[in-house]
Amino acid sequence: MESYNIAILSGDGIGKEIMQEAVKILDLFSSDVRLEYNEYLIGGAGIDATNNPLPDETLRACKASNAVLLGAIGGEKWNNLERHLRPEKGLLNLRKELGVYANIRPIKVYNATLESSPIKKEIIQDVDFVIVRELISGIYFGEPRAKEMDRAYNTMFYTRDEIYRVTKYAFELAQKRNKKLCCVDKANVLETSQLWREVVDSVAKQYSDVAVEFLYVDNASMQLILNPKQFDVMLCENLFGDILSDEASVIGGSIGLLASASIGDSVALFEPIHGSAPDIAGKNIANPIAMILSTSMMFSHLGEVEIAKKIELAVNKVLECGYRTRDLATNKDEAISCSQMGDLIVKFIKEL
Ligand code: IPM
Ligand code: MG
Repeated sequence: MESYNIAILSGDGIGKEIMQEAVKILDLFSSDVRLEYNEYLIGGAGIDATNNPLPDETLRACKASNAVLLGAIGGEKWNNLERHLRPEKGLLNLRKELGVYANIRPIKVYNATLESSPIKKEIIQDVDFVIVRELISGIYFGEPRAKEMDRAYNTMFYTRDEIYRVTKYAFELAQKRNKKLCCVDKANVLETSQLWREVVDSVAKQYSDVAVEFLYVDNASMQLILNPKQFDVMLCENLFGDILSDEASVIGGSIGLLASASIGDSVALFEPIHGSAPDIAGKNIANPIAMILSTSMMFSHLGEVEIAKKIELAVNKVLECGYRTRDLATNKDEAISCSQMGDLIVKFIKEL
């Protein structure tokens, strides 16, 4: 039996609730694969306990694991701390330390939730694309950066190698999908984008079966709403990918459905794309599906494709059967809770 060591980082806010549901899924499969998992602190929880948003013990455990599952980080309570001490710094450091340069964010519209989207049904039906977001460089990490009394600045920085590895990943993915790659940039203004175009053009030569196009990020943000079906693999630098993936979540009706995988050369990280939603934390009303689908992406990455498929099928079924957490429910009185959603997914997996 295969055996995996999973580091569990629930984090803050709804992170704890949604992770409990993901753990139910792990427990369920513990007769198919040997899973060892332990919980570690990150974000605000790390700051409260150790004054460090990424405690040493957490980082050590993550590096020694086969995969990391993360809930969400952040909250009002820690907003006024200086940058190095904020919960976000813990997540960014973790991504950087694990070297997870490719963040994969699938945007798939379920037939069952077509009505939950504010966008017209005919525009979003059958939408199925993936945002590949560069995750450990760009303006998030570039130096110099500073906030001074009367001025502040950040640096959007990329090396050719940093662009190359994520571009290569995106082309490989496009080749396995519908063979279309759209590179999102701002090459009419930014030098970094001009370098991105150069690299993408040169990598494209190795993938002659993949059709490549370039879109300026402003146009891409409009196209996402006007005609999202045109996309297959959308390749973005870090900040553009962050912004466009939240925008893309509207297509499917709720950001609570969107999972992600962050891949590098060693340990991979799996987390929902949404945040810690402090306003609904502790109320057992969050949608655990993004977290559960992130768990499915983890199994798939570990090579446990059967398990991954079962989780996806069960999520599909729960939505087909009409169960909705508050974020998706048209009638909020009929919404089910976070834990009920987790229990139903477990039940449907067992019935498969
Ligand atoms: C995301 C989040 C993070 C990011 C924050 C919490 C630092 O918005 O994963 O999309 O900007 O990458
Ligand atoms: Mg974001």
